[in-house]
Amino acid sequence: MTKILVTYLSQTGNTKKIAEAIFESLERDKTIEPIDEVQEIEDYSLIFIGFPVHSHSVPFKIESFLRKIPQGKKIALFSTHGSLPGSRLAREALEHAAVIVSKAKVLGTFSCRGKVSMAALEFLSKSPEHKAWTEMAASSQTHPDEGDIEDAKSFAKWIMTLSTQDQV
Ligand SMILES: Cc1cc2nc3c(=O)[nH]c(=O)nc-3n(C[C@H](O)[C@H](O)[C@H](O)COP(=O)(O)O)c2cc1C
Repeated sequence: MTKILVTYLSQTGNTKKIAEAIFESLERDKTIEPIDEVQEIEDYSLIFIGFPVHSHSVPFKIESFLRKIPQGKKIALFSTHGSLPGSRLAREALEHAAVIVSKAKVLGTFSCRGKVSMAALEFLSKSPEHKAWTEMAASSQTHPDEGDIEDAKSFAKWIMTLSTQDQV
C-alpha cells in the first residue's frame, strides 16, 4: 500500500494552493481531495492534511477528521495563517493539531502565510481586542507567494524521503 492522499480545507484558496503544490511534487499513486470529499482513509499509506488557522486554532472539520486517523498512520500537517511566521499565534494551531492526532506518526509540519480576506480584516479591525492583530496580518496580502510554493514542494519531497525510509 503506497497510495498518498493530500486533503485540505480552504475557504479563500490559500491552503488549496499549498495543497496543489504539495500534490504536484509527489511522484506516484496520489490523490487530492477537499476534506469534505474524502471517503476512505484506510487505503492510504500517507496523508497530507492542510487547513487555514481560524481563531488561533484548528477548524472544527479538520479536528474531527484528525480524530478519525487510525493509530500509526503516517501523516504530515500543513497550515496557512495571517499571523507573522514563527509567531506563537502562527505555531499554536499546528501544535494543537499534532496533539489531537498524536496516535498517528506525524512525519512533519509546514506552515506559511496566506492573505487574510478583506472581509475578515474589516470585521476584526472593528473589535478593540483584534485591532493590533489585523494591523500585523495586513502584510500577509502577497502570500502564499512563489517562495511559499517552493517551500511547500520541498516539504513534500522531504516528507516522502522520511516516509520511504521510515525515519520516524
Ligand atoms: C474567520 C477567520 C479567522 C481567522 N483567524 C486567524 C487566526 O486566528 N490566526 C491567523 O494567523 N490567521 C487567521 N485567519 C487568516 C487565515 O488563516 C488565512 O488567511 C488563511 O490563509 C486562509 O486560508 P484559506 O484561503 O485556505 O481559507 C483567519 C481567517 C478567517 C476568515
